[in-house]
Amino acid sequence: MKILVIHGPNLNLLGQREPDIYGSMTLSEINRRIQALAAELGIEAAIFQSNSEGDIVDAIQQEVYDVLIINPAAYTHTSVAIRDAIAAVDRPAIEVHLSNIHKREEFRRTSYISGVVTGQISGLGAEGYLLAVQASPKILNR
Ligand code: DQA
Repeated sequence: MKILVIHGPNLNLLGQREPDIYGSMTLSEINRRIQALAAELGIEAAIFQSNSEGDIVDAIQQEVYDVLIINPAAYTHTSVAIRDAIAAVDRPAIEVHLSNIHKREEFRRTSYISGVVTGQISGLGAEGYLLAVQASPKILNR
């Protein structure tokens, strides 16, 4: 099976970006751990980061994958286009947030994405991506 992991805007700055909120691990290190766990589980993983909403929509539509793992970052709270793309492809999807979006500013408590995904992991830091990888084979037929 194949998973597609998408990291949204500003996540390329992880490690230096508000480390008190997002931790000190860089995106490369997170991706290395995702790839290592996926390999251990016999899962093929493609990983993509973009700061552009349209590029994220294109990846959701065009890439070949069984399960989508996505941290839409700030687009979580604004993007009908990403929500519609996830609904359109109609494949299992897991929304991941490093921070607990429900515990932060009011505007972060609304996710345009959560209504079209299988589930959401929020507030567990980089571990959230690894839990999502582990869950992927189990949610394939939901
Ligand atoms: C985030 C939470 C969002 O509110 C924020 O805009 C991000 C990262 C997280 O992983 O905690 O960029 O998705």
